[in-house]
Amino acid sequence: MEMDTNSGNVARLTREPLHDSFGRFIRNVRISVTDRCNFRCVYCMPAEGLEWLKREQILSFEEIERLTRLLVSMGVNQVRLTGGEPLVRKDLPLLISRLSKIEGLKSLSLTTNGVLLKDMAKDLAEAGLTRINVSCDSLIRDKFHQITRRDDLQRVLQGLEELEKYPTITPIKVNAVAMRGFTEEEVVPFALLARRKPYSIRFIEFMPLDADQLWDREMVLTGDELKAIIERDVGKLVEIPSDDPAETATKYRFWDGKGELGFINPVSHPFCRNCDRIRMTAEGKMLTCLFGHIETDLKAVLRSGASDEVLAETIRRAVLQKELKHFINDGEAFKRTKRNMSQIGG
Ligand code: GTP
Ligand code: 5AD
Ligand code: SF4
Repeated sequence: MEMDTNSGNVARLTREPLHDSFGRFIRNVRISVTDRCNFRCVYCMPAEGLEWLKREQILSFEEIERLTRLLVSMGVNQVRLTGGEPLVRKDLPLLISRLSKIEGLKSLSLTTNGVLLKDMAKDLAEAGLTRINVSCDSLIRDKFHQITRRDDLQRVLQGLEELEKYPTITPIKVNAVAMRGFTEEEVVPFALLARRKPYSIRFIEFMPLDADQLWDREMVLTGDELKAIIERDVGKLVEIPSDDPAETATKYRFWDGKGELGFINPVSHPFCRNCDRIRMTAEGKMLTCLFGHIETDLKAVLRSGASDEVLAETIRRAVLQKELKHFINDGEAFKRTKRNMSQIGG
């Protein structure tokens, strides 16, 4: 291993690439910048009663930047900022601007519920955000209200429109969590929106990460079922070959070349074999799987005054324990984690 001459500021790949015990290389870190959210989506949060972390408990921008630089020096080249809702974190564009200057980082993206986007899109673009994913589960006002427990569909759609003014943020992805008995009537309107707008619209299978613990296998409306509805009611879909084996979505265009749709099928077609992701929670715990039970307290290491070498070694050891897969389809072997989605970052 090459030694760093400029500890803390190293952005080049100076270390052996980060890999797990199954030969998977880690290229992607999802960093939650807050556990707070201004929505209460039923598949994620409880209506009330979730306790927020305190300011001093969450990683500072300095800590996030140091960690990111170190991870980039170990082969990570994509960062996604998540929440809770990342845009409720004060001065988020400042963090984006700092991270965007890290040499070796190919992609800096954000997963947001979009409600604050109309006012923030410009700042995000100027700060150097390169990609964005916006959650939107319904195009019908009452249903949007019912699922997010907030009456904000128009604001989210306006936020998406606003994004179209900033071509440096591309692609614009829209995420819709699909649930049986709810999403069926949304599928065609979403497919038509994808034909009309430059959004890549992705349906995500509902996963057992809801705080209310209502998830049930019967509620999973699979990507194959959704695709069949679209092909029946709108038109044939043609797969777009992917250049990234770690991509979560299988993507399609319509027969006439228009529109882009994606299906994220973690339950019916798990994609763990190609997973290149690790996650940081807002309070600085590293998770090596969305469903992982092992948490590595990097905040404690960061705040102990440890060197980059010690921090890198801690990360390396934790990644060697990265879980083979999720066990959603393995009966009794599946144990829910104590965290719901907003406490991980998705
Ligand atoms: P890009 O396709 O690179 O834009 O990102 P993404 O799909 O990983 O990001 P996004 O935040 O939009 O996540 C979409 C959905 O995929 C969310 O429900 C995520 O929780 C889910 N997802 C992302 N990574 C994983 C993973 O490693 N395992 C599982 N099971 N689901 C994941
Ligand atoms: N299952 C699937 N996707 C979920 N998301 C939140 N909770 C769940 C769940 N239980 C989605 C959000 C967001 C992304 C990060 O994860 O809608 O788009
Ligand atoms: Fe908030 Fe996202 Fe969870 Fe919805 S899914 S409550 S927007 S963190």
